[in-house]
Formats: sequence, structure tokens, C-alpha cells
Amino acid sequence: MTAMEWHEMLARRARNRGDAELATILAGPPPGVLGMTGGFPNPATFATDLLEEIAARLVRDEPSVALQYTASEGIASVREYLIDRVAAQQGRRPEWGELTVTSGGMECIDLVCRSLLDPGDAVAVEAPTYLGAIMAFAGYEAELTGVPMDERGMDVGWLEERLDAGYRPKLVYVIPEYQNPSGRTLSLERRHALVEACRRHGVLIFEDVAYRELSFGGDPLPTLWSLGPDVVLQAGTFSKVFCPGVRLGWAAGPAPLVAQLAAAKQNTDQCAGALGQRMVEEYGRAGHFERALPATRALYAAHWTALSRALREHMPPGCEWSEPTGGMFTWMRLPEHVDTRALRPAATAAGVAYVPGRPFYVTEDGAHEMRLSFSSLDEGQLAEAARRLAGVIAEALEPASSAAGGADVRL
Ligand SMILES: Cc1ncc(COP(=O)(O)O)c(C=O)c1O
Repeated sequence: MTAMEWHEMLARRARNRGDAELATILAGPPPGVLGMTGGFPNPATFATDLLEEIAARLVRDEPSVALQYTASEGIASVREYLIDRVAAQQGRRPEWGELTVTSGGMECIDLVCRSLLDPGDAVAVEAPTYLGAIMAFAGYEAELTGVPMDERGMDVGWLEERLDAGYRPKLVYVIPEYQNPSGRTLSLERRHALVEACRRHGVLIFEDVAYRELSFGGDPLPTLWSLGPDVVLQAGTFSKVFCPGVRLGWAAGPAPLVAQLAAAKQNTDQCAGALGQRMVEEYGRAGHFERALPATRALYAAHWTALSRALREHMPPGCEWSEPTGGMFTWMRLPEHVDTRALRPAATAAGVAYVPGRPFYVTEDGAHEMRLSFSSLDEGQLAEAARRLAGVIAEALEPASSAAGGADVRL
């Protein structure tokens, strides 16, 4: 039998899928290695007893809803609940046609791509940004531009200059809170400036609020959607505050666009799983989010405190990292000659894992950067992980030991 040339058969967009980094992250670290890789919620935050009770009740009492197909926009009562929740949290109430249910944040990104992007369309993203979004935009053959960031988030002035000069992306993708991967938050001033600039130039803002509810203590800033419902489409997800095992999220934005996303959903999964939709609604209407979220936030805040203390204690001079005020990530920059991809085998050998920075950029940047997640390890493990990582980096920074030490971590 002739061997099939599978790669030759792939569609152009499938050959363009970029990096295997996301698959590596999802696979998890090898045994014995302390993983600071995925943005996985800590399983301690999963309300297993309650979910067991709610799921059993739904399956027993309402199989014709909870186990059935639903409208692509979602079950009506679930949509109503999501509208109430968005209104309570964001100070603006979506109209009925301004919100639709999605199978999580990632599906919302895909629905936006399907609905808006032709090959060659321009898309602006933060530099760095969420790997899944880069892969989706690249998969739909968009021309990606990275907008630089600093500690106050996306450099909106930089983008504004390009827009004034005629750059016209189809959309600007932004993660305003505790950004993945950098941990940074977009300042209030820049939020207003971004909405105004995009409104002036007729450019859609695609806001991803995946981590917004995971503040370490401060009050969240207004969402871009609440500031500019006419120019912002928001993707929300329950993955980080409920569980990713139930793939549930929402899209909120201008009604014609939201209707188009719901129509596009007929070509993906047709509807989000009904059982998950009703579980989130039951859990939420009973007030469990309000009861559980303070402990979830406190857990991640304590993890960050432990990691940041250990980084300060162990990291060699020349390493810098961001100071998140919520979420699951910090972003570390090493001296420029250290390549974090090349450093990875030495880190694995030392029993610690991180994600190299390069795949989070749409350019060749990020080679000396890395993302550290502090969601999954406990405080003691985070301290140990930082100590191990610091040892590996210190070795890479020392010419003599690097030359003697086998693995060449320099480029
Ligand atoms: C910024 C961002 N958006 C979206 C997602 C995807 O979330 P979901 O599990 O809802 O698909 C993630 C997951 O890590 C994320 O970090």
C-alpha cells in the first residue's frame, strides 16, 4: 500500500498552525518536574461536592433540557442569567441580542475569526499575547501585528499613531486584566484612549476577560465593553472561576455581530453543552460564585506572594519580572543572550518547567523571556521551583560553568 502523504493533503490554514507549544502546555510537565507552565485553574477551586449534587439533580429532574440540544444562542434562562451577571459585574446591561452563549473563550475567538477574517486581513494583538489566540488568527491567515506593552498594558499611543497613519486592522485583540502571558493590566487611562481611538477609526476591539474575576484584592477597572459597547466585542469564560471541564463562556457586543457569531456556531458545535450551561446557571443563581470567589482569589494571591518572595531571594541579577495584581502569571525577562528555549532541557533536568517567551509573540521577539504560572503548584513547591529555576539561569549566566556543563544554553 502506498503511504499517504498526509501533510501534503492538509489545507493551507492547517499547515500554518505554528507552534507545538500549546500542545506541550496542555500535556503537562513530565513526572517529577515542578510545572509552572499551564494557565490551569487549581483543582482546589473546583466545587466538586456542589457540582456532583447539581449535575445529579439536573440529569434526574430535567433530562429533556439538560441532556438535549439547545438553541445556538444558549438556553434562554442561561442567557438571562449571564445577562444579569454581566450587568452586575460590569455596570452595563447587555440587551437580549447583545449576548450569546459560547463553548468557552477559545470557541468565541474561533467564531470571531470565522465571522470576520478573510485571508490577509490585519489583526493587532498585544506583544506578547495568548498563544491560543495567535494560533487561531494565524490559522485564519490573518496578518498579525504585535503592539508593544509596558507595565500599564498595551501601548495604546503606539497603536493610535499607526491608526492615524492609515493602519486598519479588522480587530484589536486585548486581554485587559492580568494578561496571559504577561500578568499586566491595562490602565484606566489607556482603556479610555483605546476605545476612543478605535471608535474614531471604525476598528473593532476584541476584549478577552478570561482572568478579570481573579483580582488579588483591588477593585477591577471598567471593562472595555462597558466603556464602548458600540465598538467592543467581549469574550468571557467560566474556565478560570468555575472549571474548564465545563466548556462555557459568552460573547457580548453589538447585536448584529453577536447574531453572526451565533450563526457561525452552527458550523462548529451548533450549541454549547446543555448540562454545563444549566450547571453554571444553577451554581450561579444559588450565589455560589460570590461565596467561592474570595477563597479562589486568596489562593492565587498567596501563591503569587510565595513565588515573588522566592524570585526576589534566588534570581540572579539581570532578571526582571512583572508584578501581577491578579490572575495566574508573571512574565520574566532574562539577560538578552540567554535563550529560554535552549535553556529548557537544563530546566527539565533540574526539575522545573516554564513556557519560553518566543511563541507568545508574532515576531521573533521574546527569545530571552518566559512565562511562569503560579496557579497549580502550592506555596512550598513554588518556592522550590523558583530556587531550581534560579540555579539553571545562574549557570547559564556563568561562562565557565556553561562551557563545562554540556547543555549549551546560549545563542
Ligand atoms: C486569555 C485567554 N483567553 C481564552 C482562554 C480560553 O479559555 P476557555 O477555556 O474558555 O476556552 C484562555 C485559556 O487559557 C486564556 O488564557
